[in-house]
Amino acid sequence: MTLSWLVREYGEVSSTQEVAERLASGGAREGTVILAERQNSGRGRMERRWLSPKGGLYLSIVLRPGRVGGVHLLTLAGALAAAEGTRRAAGVSPKIRWPNDLVVGGRKLGGVIATASTRGESLEFVVVGIGVNGNFRTDELGDLSSASATLMELVHAPVDLPSLRSRILEEFALRYEGWGRGEELKLIRLARSLLSTSGKKVEFAHLRGTVTRGIAEKLEEDGSLVVKVRGKRLRLRAEEVEWLREL
Ligand code: BTN
Repeated sequence: MTLSWLVREYGEVSSTQEVAERLASGGAREGTVILAERQNSGRGRMERRWLSPKGGLYLSIVLRPGRVGGVHLLTLAGALAAAEGTRRAAGVSPKIRWPNDLVVGGRKLGGVIATASTRGESLEFVVVGIGVNGNFRTDELGDLSSASATLMELVHAPVDLPSLRSRILEEFALRYEGWGRGEELKLIRLARSLLSTSGKKVEFAHLRGTVTRGIAEKLEEDGSLVVKVRGKRLRLRAEEVEWLREL
């Protein structure tokens, strides 16, 4: 499975994720990338919005993996690609705050989302969306500004967005092709080395509404995170956790 890219560039869109899903439903091929300068309805995890001023990197990738097993690891592949691509293009090394945030010094620099469409038992397509705060100031993010970081502020200069995009796509192709060869463990090992939360005190909100504190332990091979809470080990799955932060 080799990915070749077909990048479609837009000015302003609602959400690259939405455009990619629409095109994928209409038959867009694997490797189609929707790239936009800004989004007016950017989507985050758990129905949250993703503020997307001009200057950021917003892209969504259409995938047709042909198998369902392990598909949830593609979010992790996206986060790894975004972290590695950012390091290579901008010299900034973000960590991954489980499950899918890119963080620098505890502040959020980017995020990854994946949506899947099934038809009957089979998987029709997956869209992996990646957003990185690039060339704008965090004060453009309103009340999220103090919890956010941008590359421009971190490196005190504008970053080259085309090279950031290329490096991220290169890294993603490597991870995706590895995943296709069954190298899930390699993905997990790499993610373990980049996790910001390992061994740290964390607080997380479960979808059932409870907020719990514990110590983040291990990233399991299926992408779940083990957190020790009052002496007991809980295995958290990304889709059950609304948010998680370090204390
Ligand atoms: C999160 O951290 O909650 C995930 C954020 C994902 C944002 C990206 S930006 C490109 C793509 N299009 C969207 O609408 N969302 C993703």
